Amino acid sequence: MSNLPWGNSKILTDEEFFNRTQEISNLTNLLQSTSENNAPDILVTGIRGVGKTVLLNKIKQFMDKNYLVVYMDFSTSQSYQKNNMSLKGLYDFYYQKIIEETKLKGLNTLDAHIKKFFKTNNFKLKEVVVASALDISIPIPIIGAERDLEKYKDFVFRLPQEIYEHNKDKIDGLIIIIDEFQVVKELNNYLDSFLWNFRGYVTEQRNVAYVLSGSMGLQDNLISEIAGHNGAFGGRMLTININPFSKQTTSNYLNERAPELKFTSEGFDRFYKCTSGVPYYINTFARQLPVNEELDGNKVVEAFDNNISLIGSHLINEWNRLTLKEKDLVIALIDSPLKRVDLARKLNVKSGSLSDKLNKLQNLDLIHFTNGEYEISEKLLKRWLEIEYSQKGIYPYRV
Ligand SMILES: Nc1ncnc2c1ncn2[C@@H]1O[C@H](COP(=O)(O)OP(=O)(O)O)[C@@H](O)[C@H]1O
Ligand SMILES: [Mg+2]
Repeated sequence: MSNLPWGNSKILTDEEFFNRTQEISNLTNLLQSTSENNAPDILVTGIRGVGKTVLLNKIKQFMDKNYLVVYMDFSTSQSYQKNNMSLKGLYDFYYQKIIEETKLKGLNTLDAHIKKFFKTNNFKLKEVVVASALDISIPIPIIGAERDLEKYKDFVFRLPQEIYEHNKDKIDGLIIIIDEFQVVKELNNYLDSFLWNFRGYVTEQRNVAYVLSGSMGLQDNLISEIAGHNGAFGGRMLTININPFSKQTTSNYLNERAPELKFTSEGFDRFYKCTSGVPYYINTFARQLPVNEELDGNKVVEAFDNNISLIGSHLINEWNRLTLKEKDLVIALIDSPLKRVDLARKLNVKSGSLSDKLNKLQNLDLIHFTNGEYEISEKLLKRWLEIEYSQKGIYPYRV
């Protein structure tokens, strides 16, 4: 087994983190303008496993010295975890994360200001522990009326700039990184108004940079809803797409970090094909390969097929959360991409009844729509389904 990082590590050491020098210098350069009252808003896109989260955490390390950098992952918010996405839940989470980081950095958290705000609005409060090890807890309002929610929203979204105003002798600005931003899609009917509202605050804050990120394929509608010309941020948001490692980068990476893997040239070609250059797959798969023995094409393919449920475990998790009908839909696309009418015919249902399911699968980036046809996005998921079928004679509806 080689010495590469695990696929689920979120923070890599400098020894583990490879390359991305261009992306790091782009991002840090853009973010530096925050100190000149000209904070940028950036969207970092890229498929799952490509390395967005580890990159953002590196950026945090780089910028931490002069800025208050808040990293938050929307998918860890309680309201998302409990399958109960709501505006209030997101505001709470946002507010907690900002206060937590501000306290950790020993800055003025405006406690008095916050208390006063809650008091003037007669909010009932509950204490929420944000970092038990550090004994940090903060008050969160219990909201009844719609009008109160509006006020709370205003307070929460203005907080970052306020924090800057009260700490400008100590920091050059704030950088708010929101990872797994795509989970806001689960706000459904509230999504549009959330994005437009959020934008209103974000664009007026000259000392707070926002970096939104998440696993979004390039076709994802959310990207155009955020950064497209008619999207919430109009042309104002800069988009940076993180690409998989090229074949050359992958080869350099393995030669340097895992020299004990002895690929033949054909073996390496197969390895690159299997992983598509996605660092998550590269690391997870490479860790399963036998060391100091010649790895030719056949050996690589065999090892890949034998370990596919491990390499694709995050996809299989997604798969398990799908309903029976959603699974049917994915399975119907294994042999070839299909037009919607043909898909409906294959499943023996009305075309209109597919909308919600297709949307959900697209939101999860499990399928995408190109040239009028639906197609499975994740080759690995497809391969896993094929292998399961060939071994068991039935598709894995329950794993
Ligand atoms: N620059 C890198 N160097 C080495 N390994 C990386 C790099 N980027 C990503 N990885 C590997 O891929 C895994 C997934 O990265 P992550 O940032 O979580 O992807 P994403 O957020 O895009 O889904 C990491 O845990 C790590 O094993
Ligand atoms: Mg991530």
